[in-house]
Amino acid sequence: MTRTAAVIGHPVSHSLSPAIFGFLSRALSAEHLNYTAVDVPPEKLSEFMHLQKTKPEVIGFNVTIPHKERIFDFADDISAEARAIGAINVVALSNGHVSGYNTDILGLQESFIQNAVDLNHQTVIILGAGGAARAAAYAAGLCGATRLVLCNRQISRAEAVAVELGPIFPNTTFLAVDHNYVFKNEKARLLIQATPLGMTSHASQANEFNIFDSILQGADPSGSFAFDLVYRPEQTEFLKRASIRGLKTMTGLAMLIGQALATWEIWFGPVAKRAQVSQDLAIFLRSQLAAKRVFLCGFMGAGKSTTGQALAQLLSVPFYDTDQIIVEMAGKSVADIFTESGEKTFRELESLAIQKVAAEPPGVVALGGGALINPENLKLIQQTGTLVYLSAKIETLKTRLSLAGAVRPLIVNQSERQIAELLQKREAVYKLADFVIHTDEKSTEAVCENLQQELRKLKP
Ligand code: S3P
Repeated sequence: MTRTAAVIGHPVSHSLSPAIFGFLSRALSAEHLNYTAVDVPPEKLSEFMHLQKTKPEVIGFNVTIPHKERIFDFADDISAEARAIGAINVVALSNGHVSGYNTDILGLQESFIQNAVDLNHQTVIILGAGGAARAAAYAAGLCGATRLVLCNRQISRAEAVAVELGPIFPNTTFLAVDHNYVFKNEKARLLIQATPLGMTSHASQANEFNIFDSILQGADPSGSFAFDLVYRPEQTEFLKRASIRGLKTMTGLAMLIGQALATWEIWFGPVAKRAQVSQDLAIFLRSQLAAKRVFLCGFMGAGKSTTGQALAQLLSVPFYDTDQIIVEMAGKSVADIFTESGEKTFRELESLAIQKVAAEPPGVVALGGGALINPENLKLIQQTGTLVYLSAKIETLKTRLSLAGAVRPLIVNQSERQIAELLQKREAVYKLADFVIHTDEKSTEAVCENLQQELRKLKP
């Protein structure tokens, strides 16, 4: 039986889990795991869970924000780790029975072991007091750390973690401090960065990084490790500063991979050749994080599919066409989806198609003309690739559309003025692209040539 799993959250489109579990399914399972990202708004969680419990093919879920706490209400049993830190990030379903786990902790433990970080009787400094910091503190406690220094700008939040975890680890001393603490005498074996500081999407101020230098002074000079739980970018500011001081470093990919393998094992049992799989997954994830997709946007008739196919061939990368994916998902033509189910259904399928493409190996993607109307789609596209606007004058578009085969339901019965108005409206979002290629009177080869020139200019 094809098993089904998903990551659920709201929003969820930026999750790397579909790419990770797609990879693991190809690498590990004889059976196929159909893994998707499902956006479940908080008010729909209950209905969603009840429905899933009735489906024998559903093996479980990865759970992300904002459901990690609410999901407790649906769990029949809860692992000690999940209970202790108040967050479930993995659910396993079996005959309607729901088990909740926290694989962040298991993933962290695994990362310590893989990197030969022995925490027995050692001090660990943790920056942050959110969910990731909590998991890090718990994992360090499990691995025998006897002193945990929890540092947070708002000290009360660090104190709260210490109060909660203290009784679970009676042999560990917890110390909550703020950014003014002097770390010099700590001699910590491990320093864990568990805040969003340094994340690509986080607008950090240079002086915010001063705390890194401060906690790095707490490293044991005889040998210690710096671990940043952020993985986008992989080489963070914290790790750069740690390397300069001679510390060994561990990147956020270690935890990401550890938690994914732990999830897989909960669902399917032990992973054979775990170390090899973990290395292969790291290579795959690095290519996912480094490579840029090229998304082509523009009005109907702009030549997105023709150009996309040609460019993909030139670059030797896969080609994706979101309209094509939608047709495959729905089992009917775009025109039939519009007439039978309406534009709203089409747009929902379009968002799913974009999420799917964003989780596939990088390539060239031809988008439908209306794909950017939804800001969530635009955000995901901008985060996972380069967006290119293929522009053309209305006369050119008309000529190309009269030659092209597929019916465009949005313009089929529209006057020229209405079409021009739609184009004008759409242009506002098309212009958010990284660059524009004017396609009037150009051959596909010439358009691809221009496009490649512009892409080269973008390379750092
Ligand atoms: C649409 C454009 C079409 C297709 C659908 C809706 C749009 O794709 O996605 O008919 O809203 O502009 P093409 O731009 O590839 O024709």
